[in-house]
Amino acid sequence: MHHFEYRDGTLYAENVSIPELAREYGTPLYVYSAATLRRHFQAFDSAFKGLDHMTCYSVKANSNLSVLKLLAEMGAGMDIVSGGELHRAIKAGVTPEKIVYSGVGKSEAEIRQALETGIYAFNVESIAELVKINEVAESMGKVARVGFRINPDVDPKTHPYISTGMKKNKFGLDFENSLRAYKMTRDMKGVEAVGMDCHIGSQLTSIDPFLEALEKLLDFYGTLRDLGLDIQYLDLGGGLGIPYDAEEPPHPTEFGKALGEKLIGLPLKVILEPGRVIAGNAGILATEVLYAKSTPSKNFLIVDSAMNDLVRPSLYGSHHTIAEVVQHGRPAKMVDVVGPICESSDFLARDRELPEVMGGELLVVYSAGAYGFSMASNYNSRRRACELLVDGDKVIVARKRETYDDLIANEI
Ligand code: LLP
Repeated sequence: MHHFEYRDGTLYAENVSIPELAREYGTPLYVYSAATLRRHFQAFDSAFKGLDHMTCYSVKANSNLSVLKLLAEMGAGMDIVSGGELHRAIKAGVTPEKIVYSGVGKSEAEIRQALETGIYAFNVESIAELVKINEVAESMGKVARVGFRINPDVDPKTHPYISTGMKKNKFGLDFENSLRAYKMTRDMKGVEAVGMDCHIGSQLTSIDPFLEALEKLLDFYGTLRDLGLDIQYLDLGGGLGIPYDAEEPPHPTEFGKALGEKLIGLPLKVILEPGRVIAGNAGILATEVLYAKSTPSKNFLIVDSAMNDLVRPSLYGSHHTIAEVVQHGRPAKMVDVVGPICESSDFLARDRELPEVMGGELLVVYSAGAYGFSMASNYNSRRRACELLVDGDKVIVARKRETYDDLIANEI
């Protein structure tokens, strides 16, 4: 799988063996492959090369500074959703003019911070937020560049928790309210409406919902032009899925081609906000088996990673492929792979066929590079894992494992 491959029955990340890394840095251990990140970014970005475009990596997928820096060095812009993500992006060396700011609840302080930084644009998600941005910008003597996030009411056919472009979702503005919002900007001194935005969901495995949304947006673009608005960018969000299991999402090239056909020739900068497709399969989580335990109804493998390290299986019932780090060739058994946390929802896999493994041996959890560490918590007072970025033979400690003192550092 990508730059994670077996050599003589032992899993490697690029040129470094996972058992070696586990010995040196301990487990749970996130390992990212720099070559994979570069390849994914390159593949995605070049899929849009015929268009005036900006690929703004979605920071929430994997917000590690080393990862952001690697992507920034390749020319990536960033899609952010908080002051914290803005801080990270700037620290990682991202050009402010390549940052777009989305999210339904930007606070006054965050709006101020973004205006001071000089980001490319705000994707605004409500009229109340528009009023707030106008107020803050005016008080600073600035004009905020804004686009509205339009909720096109398209079913992305993905997990309901990560569907965002349907009527019932909290995101964006329906067409009627969008039109109201665009019209309002004409009488505002602190904002100029320069863009359109939409993000319909995540882990999409078909292009059709993207095209359906795009068609609706392009229709609306005509209306906005007739109003005399100077729309400069069209942000199509992120959402392209990856194979976790048997999914067969379109390749970025295919995705770029399908969208490109509709967009070519339009006087618009196209913005894309890919997250998962860049980082997801560029990272793994290595974990040690603590104990094997059989009950009358189940075989459990109790590992040292838990829902605090990787919450996706617990939260969305997501599938992450799990395998041995060292292949022993033992017979397979049906197991639940579970963590040490005191919740029955603390599992990484259920009813999975895995070769028999012993306490002390290592397992790899694949496709953990996106929404893995970035969703990690300290639940059960567990220290968040170490993150490594492997680049050829080189190992960069992208984030040290937390210490017990880190856990209580802000407490009295
Ligand atoms: N742009 C916006 C406005 C977003 O809300 C998101 C993701 C993205 C871009 C990036 O989407 P991507 O290309 O990664 O699909 N925690 C969930 C995923 C939540 C996605 C939230 N928004 C998971 O683990 O599946």
